Amino acid sequence: MKLCIIGTGYVGLVSGVCFSDLGNNVICVDSNIKKIENLKKGIIPIYEPGLEELVKKNYKAGRLNFTKDLKFAIDNSNIIFICVGTPTMKNGYSADLKQIYNVVNEITRHIKKFKVIITKSTVPVTTGDVIEKLVSKKKSKKLFAIVSNPEFLREGEAIRDFMYPDRIVVGTENFKAKNIVRSLYEPLIKRGGKYLITSRRAAELIKYASNAFLATKISYINEISNLCEKVGVDVEDVSIGMGLDQRIGSRFLRAGPGYGGSCFPKDTKAILDTAKKFNTNLSIISSTVRSNEKRYSILFNKINKIMKGKIINKKITFLGVTFKPNTDDMRESPALKLIPKLNRIGAKITYYDPSGFKDIFDKYKNVIFTNKITSACKNSDLIILHTEWNEFRNLNFKKLVGNKKFSLYDMRNIFSYNKMTKSGINYFRI
Ligand SMILES: NC(=O)c1ccc[n+]([C@@H]2O[C@H](COP(=O)([O-])OP(=O)(O)OC[C@H]3O[C@@H](n4cnc5c(N)ncnc54)[C@H](O)[C@@H]3O)[C@@H](O)[C@H]2O)c1
Repeated sequence: MKLCIIGTGYVGLVSGVCFSDLGNNVICVDSNIKKIENLKKGIIPIYEPGLEELVKKNYKAGRLNFTKDLKFAIDNSNIIFICVGTPTMKNGYSADLKQIYNVVNEITRHIKKFKVIITKSTVPVTTGDVIEKLVSKKKSKKLFAIVSNPEFLREGEAIRDFMYPDRIVVGTENFKAKNIVRSLYEPLIKRGGKYLITSRRAAELIKYASNAFLATKISYINEISNLCEKVGVDVEDVSIGMGLDQRIGSRFLRAGPGYGGSCFPKDTKAILDTAKKFNTNLSIISSTVRSNEKRYSILFNKINKIMKGKIINKKITFLGVTFKPNTDDMRESPALKLIPKLNRIGAKITYYDPSGFKDIFDKYKNVIFTNKITSACKNSDLIILHTEWNEFRNLNFKKLVGNKKFSLYDMRNIFSYNKMTKSGINYFRI
């Protein structure tokens, strides 16, 4: 099949390359010219395991192409995926759909024969209806179908998630589009992916309801961990004990620094905004958002307690700053609040992250990146294990820090409490 993918970010690039690997002809479009030029040279704009090899392989085979020319891409495809960003509006909770509507206007201009237009971007329920109205003002309804096909891949596991999905959700009432999309996904259905056809509105809402539920699960265990700290219980025991109940399940039940990333924070807010528009009270999701926003001050107070209030001029090391391992994505990472706050009150921050330097911290004088764990930890007063990259799991902290008293705050509970305290490390965890 001939596909055009608009927006070559985390979702668009992974979807494009995976569809091409399944034998389709894919043209990826992006308005960021530098990104397109780099991709043509095999330079991948994001850190995602396995992506580079797959891009190079399919580009070489001629199944995958990159362009900034949207008209060319639309003329040469029968399925169009919209994969642009839907961030939170600057003021408020609603999803900013500017990128979506810009793309829709562009697509509308170039439709000449039947196109299936699919929103893979996460968009609030009823957005598909608005898109359909907009396109039908200029083009006959016989020339297009608007379909919702939300994406559930996780950064860091994106290729596996795309190629072996738990479920593929497709929202459309259009018979022709239903058949086309079904045959596009046939290879993934054969691999065991459950294929669910729903109304377009239901598909849009499934995505938000899923993300809000997972965010709630995380906030729930984080709040339970607050109680655990007061009553001297290891929250890991509670997580395991709860997770063994199959009705609950163990995933997304690990206490930590709070959820971040490009999806949960914005999607929980956007669904609240939608609920407000439709006069519905989603009080559980409201609490989740509030709880996650408060999480950072709980962590900050704990750091202050560990340091006995003496933070000025202390060397604080962050191991990992991304919101989760195996991605370079910094969007809404808890480190974005913690590092500036600690820096403001006089700490000297050094950070190391396997995905490299983050220019977002460039503006702070005493926040330094190092590309070696050794120099990050040397002479540190406090090491904060912020992101659980695998390479942090077997470190010898005493050797790394040198001849100095230091504390270790494990925000992901990846180390053994007994092992750490037995070796004489001033060890704290959630
Ligand atoms: N990142 C994830 O893990 C993930 C998972 C599931 C769903 N989603 C959803 O997918 C959507 C995309 O997310 P992302 O993380 O890939 O975003 P992203 O910011 O990484 O990528 C968006 C891309 O769209 C491009 N773009 C913007 N306007 C354009 C235009 N007019 N023409 C061509 N290109 C344009 C941008 O240059 C950028 O490269 C969002 O709605 C998000 O909620 C993301």
